[in-house]
Amino acid sequence: MIELDAISKTFRGNGKAVEAVRNVSLKIGEGEIFGVIGYSGAGKSTLVRCINMLERPDTGAVLVNGQDLMKLAPRELRHARKSIGMIFQHFNLFRSRTVGGNIAYPLKYRGLSRKEIVERVRELLDLVGLSDKADVYPSQLSGGQKQRVGIARALASKPSILLCDEATSALDPQTTQSILGLLRELNKKLALTMVIITHEMHVVKSICTRAAVMDSGLIVESGSIFDIFSNPQAQITRDFTATTSNLHKIYDLLNEDSPIVRLLPSQVLARFSYTGRNTVEALISTASMLFNVKINIIFGDLDILQGTPVGGLINILDGEREAVEKAVQWIIAKGVRVEVIKRGDH
Ligand SMILES: Nc1ncnc2c1ncn2[C@@H]1O[C@H](COP(=O)(O)OP(=O)(O)O)[C@@H](O)[C@H]1O
Ligand SMILES: [Mg+2]
Repeated sequence: MIELDAISKTFRGNGKAVEAVRNVSLKIGEGEIFGVIGYSGAGKSTLVRCINMLERPDTGAVLVNGQDLMKLAPRELRHARKSIGMIFQHFNLFRSRTVGGNIAYPLKYRGLSRKEIVERVRELLDLVGLSDKADVYPSQLSGGQKQRVGIARALASKPSILLCDEATSALDPQTTQSILGLLRELNKKLALTMVIITHEMHVVKSICTRAAVMDSGLIVESGSIFDIFSNPQAQITRDFTATTSNLHKIYDLLNEDSPIVRLLPSQVLARFSYTGRNTVEALISTASMLFNVKINIIFGDLDILQGTPVGGLINILDGEREAVEKAVQWIIAKGVRVEVIKRGDH
C-alpha cells in the first residue's frame, strides 16, 4: 500500500545542510497501523510528509497504491493525495469556521450538492462521536474533541491512508487513550491504513502492529510490536521500550541501596524476560516446586501484544545455593532470558 524506496531529504539554508531523512526504505501493508518512533528532530515528520508529498524527497521513490508519486504531474498528484488524510498535533483547525465548516472544507469544489455535503458532514460527525457539535466553534471544544474534528476532516474525502503526526502529543493520558481507541475503531471499520508518528512508546504499544525506530534521519530498527518489545536490538529502542515498563526501577533501588534489594546469603536477584511464546509465571511456580526455591516477585511488567505475552519479572530467588542455580538453569532451558542482577553471597 505504501512503499518508500531509498528516500532522502536534505534541508539547506543559512549555509547549513540538515539531512532530515537519510536513505529510508519502508513497506507498509494495507490495513496496518504502522508506528514511527523517535526523539524530537529524528526526521519523523519529514518522513511522513514525504508519503503525501508535502515534502518532496530529493531522491528515491514514493509508491502509494502502486503509483510512484514522485513521477506524477501536479494535477495527478492532487488527485492521488485525496486518498491520503492527515492529522496533526495542534489539530490545525480554522478558528473562524464551525466544526461543520471545518469538516466540509475539503469537500469544496468536489461537485457535491449542498445537501450531499451536509449529509457527509453528519456522517463524519457520527463516526467520530460529535453528532451534536456541527454548529459550535473549535474554541468551544476540548483538545480531544478538536482532534476528533481533525480526524473527521481528514476522512472527508474517504482516504485509504491516514497519516497521524503526533496526533495525541498535546492531549492528556485519558484523552490520548480515547483518541487511540477511535483510531483503532476506524482502522477496523474503514480498513484504513495508518501511519502513527510519535515520541511516546506507549502509543506505539497500544495500537500499532509494526513500528520503525528513527534516529538522525535513519531507521535504526523495525519489526513487529512483539519483536520490538520482547527483544529490542538498538540501544535507542531499548531506551524507548524501557519507558513503558517499570522494571528499570530495580536499578534505582540498587543505587539507593534500598532495604528491598539487600539480600541474604541464600538469595539471588534476577530478571526474567520473555523471549518467545512462553509464559513465565507458570514456569516460576513449577520451578519453585521442583527445586524447593522460594521465588518472590518484586516488579512485574506483563502485557499481551498481538495475542502473545510480553514483558518480564524481577524476582528474588531464595534457597540452597545449588537449588537456586538449578532452578535458574531450568528456567533458561525453557526459553526464558535470565539476567542475574545481584547475589546475596557476594
Ligand atoms: N522546513 C525545514 N527547513 C529546514 N530544516 C527542517 C525543516 N523541517 C525539518 N527540518 C529539520 O530536519 C530535522 C528533522 O525534523 P523533523 O522531521 O521535524 O523531526 P521530528 O518530526 O522527528 O521531530 C530537524 O533537524 C529539523 O530542524
Ligand atoms: Mg515532528
